[in-house]
Amino acid sequence: MLFDSHAHYNDSRFEKDMDEVLSSMNENNVGMILNSCSNLGEVPDILKICEKYPFIYASVGIHPHDVKDLTDSDMDMLIKYAENEKVKAIGEIGLDYFYDNSPRDLQKKWFARQIEVAKQIKLPIIIHDRDAHKDCMDILRSENIQDIGGVFHCYSGSVEMAKEILDWGMYIAFGGSLTFKKSVRPVEVAKYVPLDRILIETDCPYLTPEPHRGKRNSSLYIHYVAEKLAQIKGVSVEEIENATFENGKRCFNIK
Ligand code: NI
Repeated sequence: MLFDSHAHYNDSRFEKDMDEVLSSMNENNVGMILNSCSNLGEVPDILKICEKYPFIYASVGIHPHDVKDLTDSDMDMLIKYAENEKVKAIGEIGLDYFYDNSPRDLQKKWFARQIEVAKQIKLPIIIHDRDAHKDCMDILRSENIQDIGGVFHCYSGSVEMAKEILDWGMYIAFGGSLTFKKSVRPVEVAKYVPLDRILIETDCPYLTPEPHRGKRNSSLYIHYVAEKLAQIKGVSVEEIENATFENGKRCFNIK
């Protein structure tokens, strides 16, 4: 069975057919999904989805795009939401210097602050790092995240950076971009990272893998990522499935 470690089923692009899509997961070999969160306004919808589907878990957190109006009371709310038993991580949190939708000083402040929350309540973190590797790594170094761990979602850094992340006990996640024809660096990193530290993800409805690029993504396409990874690693798809499924459970402490 496949574990899609990063999806957004609360997205409006699933409004019309979410139940149809999610009801077909098990017959299509998708056994577990972690629904990632971008802001606190999404949490009620996400928890509703988790309640309805036992195989779907959640993270709660505020994406760097959405941090500019955050206050301390939002952190109290975050902690409160994280008490739900389906919540398995704080995320996605991090830095996005590609879009710069929030000022960079605020992105850094609230990234560090949410790591503090994660440490306080002992949940792993899901990191979003786009064009911000240096600042992201500086913050992670100063925050000592070894005790909570977590995952770099849609990893786009170098092999050197991956080495340091692995030393912290974290996982590295690959998604649709691994299958893109011009994708060189993710392939190089995927070769390097040991199989017991890799997660796979769709980030649906975004980042649709080849050969469906351009269409709406869903966890039904996660097998393309598994197949590409099997090819890169020179192992069977089944081996990739089993390893990434167990890794996901371990990373997010799912029994
Ligand atoms: Ni995401």
